Parts: sequence; structure tokens; C-alpha cells
Amino acid sequence: MSQGLSSFNSVPADRPRIAIIGAGVIGLAIGWRLAQAGASVDLFDAGVAGQGASHAAAGMLAACAELEPGEEDLLALNRESQLLWPGFAADLEAASGQDVGYRESGTLVVALNADDAGKLRHQHTLHRKHDLPVEWLTAAEARRREPYLNTRLAGALWCPEDHQADNRQVAAALKVAAEKAGARIHEHMPVDAVESAGGVARGVRIGGRLHEADVVILAAGAWSRSITIAPAAPLPVRPVKGQMLSLQMDPANPVLTHVVWGPGIYMVPRKDGRLILGATVEEKGFDTTLTAGGQLALLTHAWRAVPTIEELPILEQWVGFRPGSRDDAPILGASGVPGLIHATGHHRNGILLLPVTTKVIVDLVLEGRADPLAAPFGVDRFTPRAAAE
Ligand code: GLY
Repeated sequence: MSQGLSSFNSVPADRPRIAIIGAGVIGLAIGWRLAQAGASVDLFDAGVAGQGASHAAAGMLAACAELEPGEEDLLALNRESQLLWPGFAADLEAASGQDVGYRESGTLVVALNADDAGKLRHQHTLHRKHDLPVEWLTAAEARRREPYLNTRLAGALWCPEDHQADNRQVAAALKVAAEKAGARIHEHMPVDAVESAGGVARGVRIGGRLHEADVVILAAGAWSRSITIAPAAPLPVRPVKGQMLSLQMDPANPVLTHVVWGPGIYMVPRKDGRLILGATVEEKGFDTTLTAGGQLALLTHAWRAVPTIEELPILEQWVGFRPGSRDDAPILGASGVPGLIHATGHHRNGILLLPVTTKVIVDLVLEGRADPLAAPFGVDRFTPRAAAE
């Protein structure tokens, strides 16, 4: 199919050649670990490494606070990744020499009226059903943890194992670690297609030229659908727009010290005093517009939960794109094309799922081991046959 393309890499065949499409945190972490293991790794990004969803995210590791009904398989993956996070952060800091802002802050989910409290109690039955570390707090107990919360609190959930990492620092550290391990990061090099011969992936096509690889890993987040992977269909991944903003707290006297969720809002306090507020959920394709309505909604919801924020300076406002699959769960592992592996579609959980995704994909590439934890997340779940069964 691609016999006519000229090739522009000639890496010795004694090391597996890996081409990774997308240098966000997922692609970078997989590239880092594979390069550490001796593989020859090239990462291709259409823009600048780590500047997509990896930059836009809030960095919440919220397996419990973000749990929704019907997500039992995802919960197991999320919880495993939560357990892997401390070791992942320590390894990454050692490899890069950089702080990644991993902070064991815990998360409070607050109710501001009886209706909110009813919803939280309902969510808490799900937590109890799955034996999750989540505790019901009275308003007074919640305010002891976070004194600036609205005095009209109606109760809260405390998630002591839902922590945070600074996603921007994670991306920066991964870039350093990957390059130190020998991975090559090619920025502003959009991949057009995964090339195959005899139905087997043999590399990636960039600007009419072939970059040969033994394994291709598709980790292009919200942009994954735009990569041609014939004979397979394009991946069912769409951008889910999120508007966000940050405020500047006094680091010596921060308004919040835990991650706090209120109705319609989450707030993530960083060590340096930044308070990240997020996020809208909009089906508007790759629309990068910041709207008055979106920003107003975030600020209003935040102000209702923590009135003191009205004094804080606004630092930054931005838009990001969650990679949402058809069922909002990630797409992981082998594809219908031998030699092509998926690591995309992480939707709301990209930072949380970073360590487990890395482990699952690296084990698959190096040992051919398909982790049972990832079995529910193969792309084959979207094929018509799987749907009919
Ligand atoms: N996980 C937070 C968000 O997607 O907005």
C-alpha cells in the first residue's frame, strides 16, 4: 500500500523501533519507559510536546470524586492508576530532576443545599457499594478542613485518596526524562497516516514520507480521529471542549488547601498559590473560544462554594479538549492492525490514568502481555459485531 514512499529513518533492526503519534503526557510517558528499556523511540507531535490536553488539564487524580454509575470497569483501572501514582511521580522526579507537583491533598465534594446533599448521598451509596475510601462529613467537619467554604454548607464527601499532580510540571518532566532516555521528540510534525503493508503497520506517514517502525502507538488524544489508519476505521474519538481559568491565592495563606468540588465546579489549589477552576463540558468540536457565559458559570459556581474567591486576581483563562470516545472510556491496547497500538480516548481521566496506561502499553509492547485490567477498553468494543453480541 505504501511501497512508493521514501523512508527517512534507518535505525538498526536489533532494537525495536517505536513511533508514537502524539507527545502529550501519555505518549511521552510511554516513550520514556520504552526508551529506558532500550527501544528506539520517535515521538511525533502536530504542535509542541505537552501543550494539548496535558497542558489544559487540572491534574486531579479523582477516582472516587468523579465516579459515575455504570463505570465499574473504569473504576478498577482508575483505582489501580491511583495506587501507581506515588511511585510513578517519584520515578519521574528522579529521572528528570524536576518536581511534578504530586500532592496528597485529598478531595472534598461539598453540597450547598438539601438537593445537592441528596445527590451526594446517592453517589455515596455507589462509593459504599464499591468499598471506596469516601466518608460523609457534616458541614462543621468540612469547614474545619476548609474554613473559607460557604457557611450555608449542607454536608460534604471526603475522598482522602483523591490527590493531584501538576499536569504542566508532569509534561515538562516527561519531556526531559524521555529525551534523557534517548527518545527523539519531533515537534510540528503532524502524522497523516499509519502506513501498513499486508495489513501490518510498518510506520507512519508524514508529509508524503514514511518513518518506518516495528510498532506504532496512537496517542494523539482528541486529534486521534484525524489519523488515517486504513484498513481500520478512524478512531471514534471526539474533542470535548472545556473552558478553565486560574486565580492567584496567597501561597502563605491559601483560600483552599484540598481539591474542592462544588455543584458545577472543581477547584484545585497548587503549591505555588494558583487555584485552578474548571471546567465547562461543551460539544463544540475544536472551538477555542473563551465565552463570557462559560467563564461566568465557572466563577459563579466557584463563588457560591467559596465566596472569598471574589478577592483573588485572575491569572489565566484557557480552553482544552478532552479526548472523548463513544462511551467516554479510554481506548487501550491492540488494534485491528497488527503492530498498531492504541493509547487514547482518556476523556476526563488522562492525568489520573497516566501511570496505568503507561504500564499496560509498555508491557504489551515489550512482553506481549495484555493486562486483563485493560481488556474492557479495546477498540473492538466499538465494532458492529461486538455491539450485536
Ligand atoms: N477531569 C476534569 C475534567 O475533565 O474537567
